[in-house]
Amino acid sequence: MDIIKVTSYEEMSAEAAKIIIDRVKETPSITLGLATGGTPIGTYKKLVEDYGKSAATYQHVSTVNLDEYIGLSGDHPQSYRMYMENHLFKHIDIPAHQTYLPDGTAENLMKECQRYDQLIENMGGVDLQLLGIGQNGHIGFNEPGTPFNSRTHIIDLMESTRKANSRYFPTLESVPEQAITMGIQSIFESKEILLLASGQKKAEAIYKLLEGKISEDFPASILRNHLNVTLIADAAALSHTDL
Ligand code: F6R
Repeated sequence: MDIIKVTSYEEMSAEAAKIIIDRVKETPSITLGLATGGTPIGTYKKLVEDYGKSAATYQHVSTVNLDEYIGLSGDHPQSYRMYMENHLFKHIDIPAHQTYLPDGTAENLMKECQRYDQLIENMGGVDLQLLGIGQNGHIGFNEPGTPFNSRTHIIDLMESTRKANSRYFPTLESVPEQAITMGIQSIFESKEILLLASGQKKAEAIYKLLEGKISEDFPASILRNHLNVTLIADAAALSHTDL
């Protein structure tokens, strides 16, 4: 794993955006795997800023997001579709039909999971996957205990994850209890992975990621077996390591 140590959230976001912009330039028809949550907001902001002042185009880019809450439609303010529209899609020239997220309101959720896997396969897999990390080591919404060989599936969100994400909802009760998430195997098959971590709250998770056992009890640990992962972390996130 390559590790880029930075001093701040701002610098982490700038480094991540630079890598994404480079990859899009190299391969205009790239498939980007995208994440939501607090961590990548700064990265998306930098992409939008760059788009405004450079000749960058996303016309041929396709995106697949990691996850979506079950029960929230794409126009729900807390849905991940809405998050992506607000933070990135509506600010750049990516065609809407090239942006994919699981449908959390699909009538047949099992079929929706299969459709999502098929979609990723038809695209030839993810070229560059952006990831955040949960304090419990989750990637996507793959909570501890999820099999490493999992594909897109339905997951019961842990109470700690719902609590962490309740900052975006009016109440804890309104945070959905389930989500559809890309599986660990699907994430692992991405050709390149960019993992971002910022702040003291992530320090224990980053310590376990780098020094702990590779185990399904800590989903992100599988990334140590991947040949093309870059971790961009600030000093606070790295503060439990010797780095
Ligand atoms: C989001 C996702 C999650 C988050 C993780 C960290 O699509 O899949 O794994 O990356 O929960 O969230 P933040 O960035 O809010 O700390």
